[in-house]
Amino acid sequence: MNKIGKILIISVAVGAFGYAAGIFFDMTPLAMGGALGILTLAYGILLTRSPSPLKEKGILKNIISKVPVIVVLSIIIWFTAGHYGFPIWWQIEFVAFAVVGLIFFVILDMKAMKLEKGAVHTTIRLLATYALASIMFIAITTHLPQFSPEIELAKLNRPPVKLSGLAGPEVIAAGRDVFESNKCFNCHKVFWEGNSDRGPNLGSKQIGLYSEDYIKDQILNPRQNQSPGFEDKKSKRAMPTYYGEDLSEDELSVLVSYLKTMRDPTHMPVEGKFPNQWTWWDDPKILAEGQVVYEGKEPATEGLNCAVCHGANGIPMMTGAFDFRDPDNMDTTKMPDHMPLKLKDWPDELYYKRVTRGVDATAMAPWGMIFPHLYLWKAEAYSRTFHDPLDKRAAKKPVPPVPTKEEIQRWKADGLFLDPLL
Ligand code: HEC
Ligand code: HEC
Repeated sequence: MNKIGKILIISVAVGAFGYAAGIFFDMTPLAMGGALGILTLAYGILLTRSPSPLKEKGILKNIISKVPVIVVLSIIIWFTAGHYGFPIWWQIEFVAFAVVGLIFFVILDMKAMKLEKGAVHTTIRLLATYALASIMFIAITTHLPQFSPEIELAKLNRPPVKLSGLAGPEVIAAGRDVFESNKCFNCHKVFWEGNSDRGPNLGSKQIGLYSEDYIKDQILNPRQNQSPGFEDKKSKRAMPTYYGEDLSEDELSVLVSYLKTMRDPTHMPVEGKFPNQWTWWDDPKILAEGQVVYEGKEPATEGLNCAVCHGANGIPMMTGAFDFRDPDNMDTTKMPDHMPLKLKDWPDELYYKRVTRGVDATAMAPWGMIFPHLYLWKAEAYSRTFHDPLDKRAAKKPVPPVPTKEEIQRWKADGLFLDPLL
């Protein structure tokens, strides 16, 4: 064995030892140093060998002398990239570049066909080699899946979401992280947070009232159902369609858990694109849907029929049932938190509380413990029309201010959310 061969083997062995030790003890600098050492030495040796014109090799010998080095290098690169969590396609790409390196050195080391004639000739040859390398580079990369470095790096930097089976604050916090890292905040506000109003404010819209399937579908197939008030061409195309590929099943699941918490127990949902928004109070479509619920015809709330007691036309059918036609009706005194307010002045909060929690010791049951609140809000919006018909309204009810962080704290402290959230 010649001298160079010995140096090569010793240096690769030393480098490999450092690399293995670094990986084994999880010492990044040592592993990096080892890998870098192998790389530099191996390439350095290849380079020192190439300009020896006296011992020009045939093409076969040329290739055979380099293949083992590249194989060793490829294995090292593969495992190093794997160890640092690069996606498989990146690993393949890194190895592909090592192979390109092989081809490059084989070409460099080939027998000169003609003697160099001068500086111009050399320059042309160099440029041609560079062009060849570029073509190989492009040919290989175009056959690999496209990626945006920014997105890929962002993915590398965040640990994959793993569900531990624990529902609760951890899951919701993980969902919020998914919302944040997928840049949903760029188009969606969540109450007071977020960067733009390109999409609906998922907080005041109360996306959490909707079923998990609906929310999932809106994320995975955003072109199917347009959000009310977002039917314009630009909004239709705004929501990206790639979340189905980008989000893992666990990520989607925690994201939905987070979105399910988007509720406001003090106001009716708000629809439409800022600043042209409206509340469910004035939404003819919602009022029509509310009538279906109120009259007991909504399959999703089978068994609930406000009309049985309160009357289909607002004339109470049951003695003692609240009369929705009288705007001066007072809040019940049977509840400890009753308010001395006329029906026409009731805040949404009071109405919602009564309908979801009921009136103690009466036929007015806590419907919110049994039926999804999405439908209860609709029935409430409709039942308001008995004392305040839609066609007689002088103006729309003003859109409530976006709740603040403090207000949300208060909802939690005052126990305004029912558990479990329906
Ligand atoms: C580039 C802007 C943009 C980004 C980013 C974006 N969205 Fe949207 N999104 C919209 C627009 C605009 C709409 C309304 C039009 C529609 O329904 O497609 C919408 C609609 C929705 C809806 C349906 C609302 C409804 O009324 O039913 C949900 C849910 C939603 N987005 C969730 C998300 C989540 C979760 C993310 C991040 C993973 C996200 N969006 C990222 C623009 C965006
Ligand atoms: C089984 C009969 C029954 C059904 C069904 C029913 N209610 Fe009632 N509701 C009552 C009775 C009785 C009262 C009066 C309670 C009292 O004595 O204060 C009442 C009271 C109310 C009040 C007034 C509470 C207050 O502060 O005084 C509201 C609002 C109301 N109901 C809404 C609804 C809505 C909306 C539905 C359908 C989702 C509904 N109710 C279904 C029997 C019923």
